[in-house]
Amino acid sequence: MKITVATFAKRKVEKQKISMLTCYDYTTAKIINQTNVDAVLVGDSVGNVMLGYPDTLSVTMEDMITYGRAVSRGCTEKLVVIDMPFMSYQVSVEQALINAGRLLKEARGNAVKLEGGQNICPQIKAMTQAGIPVMGHLGMTPQSVNAFGGNKVQGKTEAAAKKLIEDALALQEAGCFAIVLECIPHKLAAIVTEKLSIPTIGIGAGAQCDGQILVYQDMLGMYKDFSPKFVKHYANLSDIMTNAFNDYDKEVKEQAFPSEEHTFKIDEEVLEKLY
Ligand code: KIV
Repeated sequence: MKITVATFAKRKVEKQKISMLTCYDYTTAKIINQTNVDAVLVGDSVGNVMLGYPDTLSVTMEDMITYGRAVSRGCTEKLVVIDMPFMSYQVSVEQALINAGRLLKEARGNAVKLEGGQNICPQIKAMTQAGIPVMGHLGMTPQSVNAFGGNKVQGKTEAAAKKLIEDALALQEAGCFAIVLECIPHKLAAIVTEKLSIPTIGIGAGAQCDGQILVYQDMLGMYKDFSPKFVKHYANLSDIMTNAFNDYDKEVKEQAFPSEEHTFKIDEEVLEKLY
């Protein structure tokens, strides 16, 4: 049965955890679709892990639509959330609504995610009134990397922690079905989780959140540009891929590949006529 926003609400009530991974391509989407992972996020982290940018700021609506489409074709049983890229929702409610609509109409996502608190509640209200499910995102929101002066843990002072709690309540009030909490102290995440009736999805926010999300290239040990403290490596695919690529290279150069089993035959009669 397809996971929906209703499943998220039920999990919160039943105190059952939610697992999410990022996803950006059809092949990985098909693999995740066969697993017990509940939902995927086509994150604007696509800018880092797929496009090689140093941050998420250059990601465009066209990027999100292309990658989102690929994922929604493969992840048929999962809730597919698609990130709204930097400056696709900040300018006006109208701009936000049009772009959120494109992520459902053109990319076939089931929900959108945007970063921010009270400042973006008018956009969230407009989207939810139009039938677009919205996931919020608070804490270390990567699109504000320049404002934060780097990727730093957020919500550590009393003022910042209180603001984060107020923002979380405002997002819930505006209609969000869930909120990502990124890189905040785990005890603050626990308080937010306790105060909300919608699920919190943590990344670097501790075990008390209602669910967790990781970037799949991080958890598979594929992306080595930087590795945040909160990442756990469930595999070392970088080494496995490096070895496989080198084995292939060696076999090509030693003429061990392709062997007979990988080649196609032609009738001898036809062949004779070719000389
Ligand atoms: O873009 C992304 O991958 C995200 C997650 C880190 C939550 O927003």
